[in-house]
Amino acid sequence: MKETTTAERSQGRKASGFEIPRVTPDMRMRRLRSKAPLRAMIRETHLRTEQLIYPFFVVEGKGIKTPIKSMPGIHQQSIDQMLKEAEEVANLGLSSVLLFGIPQNKDSQATGAWHEDGIVQQATRELKKRFPELMVVADTCLCEYMDHGHCGIVHDGTVLNDPSLEILARTSVSQAAAGADIIAPSDMMDGRIAAIREALNVNGFENVPIMAYSAKYASGLYGPFREAAESAPQFGDRTSYQMDPANGREALREIELDIEEGADIVMVKPALPYLDIISQARALTKLPIAAYNVSGEYSMVKAAAANGWIDEKRVVLECLTGITRAGADIIITYHAKDVASWLKN
Ligand code: PBG
Ligand code: ZN
Repeated sequence: MKETTTAERSQGRKASGFEIPRVTPDMRMRRLRSKAPLRAMIRETHLRTEQLIYPFFVVEGKGIKTPIKSMPGIHQQSIDQMLKEAEEVANLGLSSVLLFGIPQNKDSQATGAWHEDGIVQQATRELKKRFPELMVVADTCLCEYMDHGHCGIVHDGTVLNDPSLEILARTSVSQAAAGADIIAPSDMMDGRIAAIREALNVNGFENVPIMAYSAKYASGLYGPFREAAESAPQFGDRTSYQMDPANGREALREIELDIEEGADIVMVKPALPYLDIISQARALTKLPIAAYNVSGEYSMVKAAAANGWIDEKRVVLECLTGITRAGADIIITYHAKDVASWLKN
């Protein structure tokens, strides 16, 4: 360190009354931040279009494209309209879409979830016919198809675990039969990965991977989605099957169990309040990790941007880069189309 002279010291004393030694740092981190190409050269995390999955909300009918108020830019749409957007998605270089179905009729057995002509099965067949290269991820859950809006069979006001497994397994097989490239169970019933893996295997779909929503929290950030998917529970909430946001170790147990049961990809959901879980999951397993940047995370950014309070592009890229830096390989996000177009230019 450079010595300060008596003259310099007395000058400092004169100005403030205190003696302030002059310090010259040995290591200057700013050296590598001084030029854009240098910053780019040492950048550690790179967001890629191929890692993104874009969700679709599919309804029955024709010519339907209904905006979801709380999610600007996102629509409920009939298959014909969805196919138009799928073309746009493919042209942007995105490789995958995630399908949520909103059936015409809901019942207590979630018939629409596993029926051969269910909305997701139809949409999957049409997508694979028109865009064979585009990967279709099928959300495997029952809430959109149940009249009570819960993710499993309900009896006497409780969500039953084991009877739900059979319907979930049936749903996954019908989705695979329709051509789904990845099965993504989001229900949080115990043992569903094993049940689904076994059902897929015995029906000749041993090569269809499972992306398990392993650590899915009971989150307030699903609010806008429930408007989009018309899947809000009609009584109670989902705290008896989705995880308590306060728990971290439990998330790792969920992930371990899903891996033992045969998951190919494990997921943490939502993403931004749970970056610690993503990071710990990264240390726990060598499997690919997915993170779901959920509807509420999207709506908050869109609302602030619409008010001119934040720079949308900058904030979206920062959020998704953060999720990637935490350890996620795959990100499901409603921002996918925007990000793909930004990364192109
Ligand atoms: C349904 C399901 C939900 C989401 C994905 N699948 C909502 C819920 O569990 O209530 C949330 C996605 C989002 O908020 O974007 N099992
Ligand atoms: Zn559900």
